[in-house]
Amino acid sequence: MDGNGRWARKRLMPRGVGHKAGVDALVKVVQAAADRGIGYLTVFAFSSENWKRPEEEVSGLMSLLLVALSKHLTRLKADGVRIRIAGDLDTVSPRIRDALRGAEKDTEDNSRLVLTVAFNYGGRWDIVQACRAAMAAGVAPAELDEPTLARFMTMSYAPDPDLFIRTGGEVRLSNFLLWQSAYAEFFFTDCLWPDFDAAELDKAVASFARRERRFGDVGASGQGEGALGGADDDLTCADDGSVAGGR
Ligand code: IPE
Ligand code: MG
Repeated sequence: MDGNGRWARKRLMPRGVGHKAGVDALVKVVQAAADRGIGYLTVFAFSSENWKRPEEEVSGLMSLLLVALSKHLTRLKADGVRIRIAGDLDTVSPRIRDALRGAEKDTEDNSRLVLTVAFNYGGRWDIVQACRAAMAAGVAPAELDEPTLARFMTMSYAPDPDLFIRTGGEVRLSNFLLWQSAYAEFFFTDCLWPDFDAAELDKAVASFARRERRFGDVGASGQGEGALGGADDDLTCADDGSVAGGR
């Protein structure tokens, strides 16, 4: 969910106003995703690197999280949303930790849409904590394979993501879901997060629907002829078929 700060700056407002607008966008996108039958939505709310931001912005984001939960939790719960948290909560303030754990507990009986909020999350952190947990569980080096390690990743309850969306124009992963995104389809858009809505979600899903997923195989079309070739000009590397080229 990138672009909150720029969204606010364009309006000559403080960055915090953009974060607030970002929460409103998120609530609408969650509803839109649930309406479309999407079962799992995972959002990068605060990265393990975001602590580097000015202290005023960090504390603003923490307060906003508490306000957003108290404002929207009841509605999300009534809409069948189950909230789960991915990230290192051992190093955040007890107030934040309790609020996040409380939201998880409060919505644990829901199953219409699982909303995972990645908070104090980093993809590398996730892999390291999974390795540690596997070792602590007594998994021997020779037994450690991909399915085994996957069981220890923070989001072992969810399928790997099909579609990875990044708003705000940057074309990088920024340490999000590194393990889980091995075969995700990527959608990068210049749309700033507070402007992202149901129509933008539909664009991303339509782009996803045009892609041929081969998971390393040659695919249904037989000879590795990219279904992407020219069909999807919002893909950054579709022209030469390199994404479709069997990696
Ligand atoms: C939201 O957007 C990111 C967070 C959730 C912390 P940014 O705050 O990164 O906005 P830009 O990139 O400065 O526009
Ligand atoms: Mg940013």
